[in-house]
Amino acid sequence: MLIDQKMKMADVVLHDPTLVPVINRFGIHLGFGDQTIEEICKTHGLHVQFFVITLNAFHDKLYFPTEQLQSFKASLLIDYLQKAHRYFLEDKTPEIADLIERTLREDDVNKTTYGLIKKFFNEYREEFAKHIEREDQIIFPYVLKLEKALEAGTAEEQLLHKIQTHPIVEYEAEHEDVEAKIFDLKNIIIRYLPTPNNDALWYQILREIFTLEKELAEHARIEDLILIPKVEAMEKAIKGGN
Ligand SMILES: [Fe+2]
Ligand SMILES: [Fe+2]
Repeated sequence: MLIDQKMKMADVVLHDPTLVPVINRFGIHLGFGDQTIEEICKTHGLHVQFFVITLNAFHDKLYFPTEQLQSFKASLLIDYLQKAHRYFLEDKTPEIADLIERTLREDDVNKTTYGLIKKFFNEYREEFAKHIEREDQIIFPYVLKLEKALEAGTAEEQLLHKIQTHPIVEYEAEHEDVEAKIFDLKNIIIRYLPTPNNDALWYQILREIFTLEKELAEHARIEDLILIPKVEAMEKAIKGGN
């Protein structure tokens, strides 16, 4: 289903409830009644096109209107990505950590294996947090500087130097590492976990991990396919103009 602005938000969420955290990130919460996407965006002062495209990008893996997304300001994209970072760090990963902690409290027999899973998950969490920190502290400020320089029509020497020495292209490969780790975690649980006392709890953990994996893939897709090409184009424009 291709989502468009004339659709009722309720119908869209009924069709794909995994969009709830995405719309929350835009400041929209359940309780939208019968309003269309367009009406809701108007009330919330949101860029309708950007909103609809983001929903579609999450909803359908094959959908990607790269050219249209290129027309948005980088700051709009970064604001959205930063909200997603907070969601991963402050909601999602602590939730999974709490569930794993619960298995340790509730099952004496498998404590050693659960301890190893906990350790593996914590390592993953740390690595992931570092990845996000790098984006928040280094990549995003750099992108905002590029946008400002383009708007002003002039770039400082320091920025020009950075474009030459650390262009955005350097950072592209990183997502694969984060994704590989979560794949290993799923495998450890599904292949090597001894029969647990509480099947339902482990099922919940698995579901959370699968959801996180899907959300991360969508997030990385926006960064790799939209943000990076956009930044490459900005770098080129600045270099060309100086
Ligand atoms: Fe990110
Ligand atoms: Fe990322």
